[in-house]
Amino acid sequence: TFAKLPAVDGDILVHAEGPNNGLPIKVADLNDKITRAWPQGKDNKGNTVIKKDEPNNLLIIYKFPVAELVAPTDLKGTDQGVVAYSGICQHLGCQVGDNASKPETILCPCHSGAYDPRAGCKVIGGPPPKPLPQLPIKLDGDGVMATAPLEGPYFGLTDSDWKALLEEAKT
Ligand code: FES
Repeated sequence: TFAKLPAVDGDILVHAEGPNNGLPIKVADLNDKITRAWPQGKDNKGNTVIKKDEPNNLLIIYKFPVAELVAPTDLKGTDQGVVAYSGICQHLGCQVGDNASKPETILCPCHSGAYDPRAGCKVIGGPPPKPLPQLPIKLDGDGVMATAPLEGPYFGLTDSDWKALLEEAKT
């Protein structure tokens, strides 16, 4: 169903938890800690649908001082320090979270996989085999809009499965 398709260009990001669950994320809601989000798009009947029926569509989004974002972040896919990634660990698919003891890093609670969200979510510890893929975004008024799909498959998909899914999402 549409609600399982991944984020594509033009989707807006909505809160995935908390008091504003289901409402569009505002830039003012963001900071240097994880905000969890779902993509929301329009199906072919024009209905607005939150794409949360696929748990691997979960995203994380931050706002950092612009100068803190460094390679290999895709800077063209960021706007005023706002940057978004898949929220699902590339090791075995757990939800990643903030790291209380090392706040500048992401920690996966399952097997201590660690990522650097200011540097393209490259792996900096533990078993994950690859970075969390980035979701290119731009600011849209006071909200956040995807400008392209995730830059690589989310957890559990091969490159070719991902390509096929994107084809489906674009039609
Ligand atoms: Fe994240 Fe294993 S699932 S480190």
